[in-house]
Amino acid sequence: MEVRLQKIIAGTGLSSRRKAEQLIASGHVTVNGKVVTELGTKVDPERDHVKVDGKHLTNIQPFVYLMLNKPKNVMSTLDDPGGRTTVKDFLHGVSVRVFPVGRLDFDSEGLMLLTNNGDLAQALLHPRYHVPKTYLIKVKGVLTDDEIADLQRGVKLEDGMTSPATVKKIKKAEANSWVEITIHEGRKHQVKRMLETVGHPVIKLTRVKMGPLTLGGLTSGEFRFLTDREANALREVVEQRRTLEQEGKDPGVRPPRPKRREGWAKPAKTKRYSPKKARRVA
Ligand code: URA
Repeated sequence: MEVRLQKIIAGTGLSSRRKAEQLIASGHVTVNGKVVTELGTKVDPERDHVKVDGKHLTNIQPFVYLMLNKPKNVMSTLDDPGGRTTVKDFLHGVSVRVFPVGRLDFDSEGLMLLTNNGDLAQALLHPRYHVPKTYLIKVKGVLTDDEIADLQRGVKLEDGMTSPATVKKIKKAEANSWVEITIHEGRKHQVKRMLETVGHPVIKLTRVKMGPLTLGGLTSGEFRFLTDREANALREVVEQRRTLEQEGKDPGVRPPRPKRREGWAKPAKTKRYSPKKARRVA
């Protein structure tokens, strides 16, 4: 069966469909030894030999992306010299070596992205890219509207002011309460330090969103492979920002201007995961 060239390239996990089109248009792709720059070109993957930068598509190691719901009291690294449980202990049956994209504190929980795509991991972690991360947090006491406004504008930490954040009050729980914070930075213990600054120490912290990814119904300690749509959305984030950078524009998506909010809000929508759409690569 004949398939569009960009679809075959993107299907290997090498790039998004958009990037595959750029690779074709700029002459990086050959079909049966001939450079093909026509985007509409259809090929038969069983019969035709497609190469990207001289590498046969079948020799390209597919990129693997997975999401783990890290439990509390687990290291977010792959190894721990102290012998504590690490995220690796939860990746049963994953034969490809994947690396965590960023960290969560030992006592924090939630969404961790792991991949063998080193370039993408590096780009997502780069402070210039401002990939938003959303945390659902139980804090001591109840934040006042002024404290929320301070957190949204930015508070002074020992390593400098924080950039604008989004803060929503979610619900009150006796002497404590739940808030949701979205930040566009990734400093060490940042959310805990921000809340400490306004006098509300963190009791529980769960990352529920990272860029286009949401934790959804994944239970603690469970992992799943990203769907093609999710993996493409991640690649799009990086590619769009790289393009802006190449055009000499600031790739940082400006954090939204803090709005003053009164009252309680609904937590971030987390789409339910569809196992049918998940791509098992490893
Ligand atoms: N901010 C923190 O303080 N801890 C985390 O684990 C993540 C963000």
